[in-house]
Amino acid sequence: MKIAIGADHAGYDLKEIVKPILQEKGYEFEDFGTNSTESTDYPDYAHPVANAVESGDCDFGVLICGTGNGVAITANKHQKIRAGLCWTPEIASLIRQHNDANVLCIPSRFISTEVALEILDTFLKTEFEGGRHGRRIGKMACM
Ligand code: RB5
Repeated sequence: MKIAIGADHAGYDLKEIVKPILQEKGYEFEDFGTNSTESTDYPDYAHPVANAVESGDCDFGVLICGTGNGVAITANKHQKIRAGLCWTPEIASLIRQHNDANVLCIPSRFISTEVALEILDTFLKTEFEGGRHGRRIGKMACM
């Protein structure tokens, strides 16, 4: 499984913590930046991650910014992206089970590293439930 990962300056430190952990767990990943804590614009990283998932180059995306909302709003402009903002592992589980989320958005300024890593682990190992949730996902796209 290949993960696209990206963050702005507020998410950079957490992104650097996440990368070796993904590797340890046996995931391939592609890092779309940013590459420092210098102030930058979150769409510059959210769009490339969303493109990588939309195109099928990557199976899932992980995006990190201060609130998680800037990257989530940006990624969700892409028709094939279902990006979910998570601040507890239970929400991470539910965005996979019910929403078939393909991009995880993490609010680095509002949760601990420990919780962020639990969220990531839960997101990556939880399957979509299908059934009625599949029907609902089918109604998401704008015509
Ligand atoms: C950066 O200061 C901050 O605005 C950004 O990381 C994010 O929280 C935006 O939604």
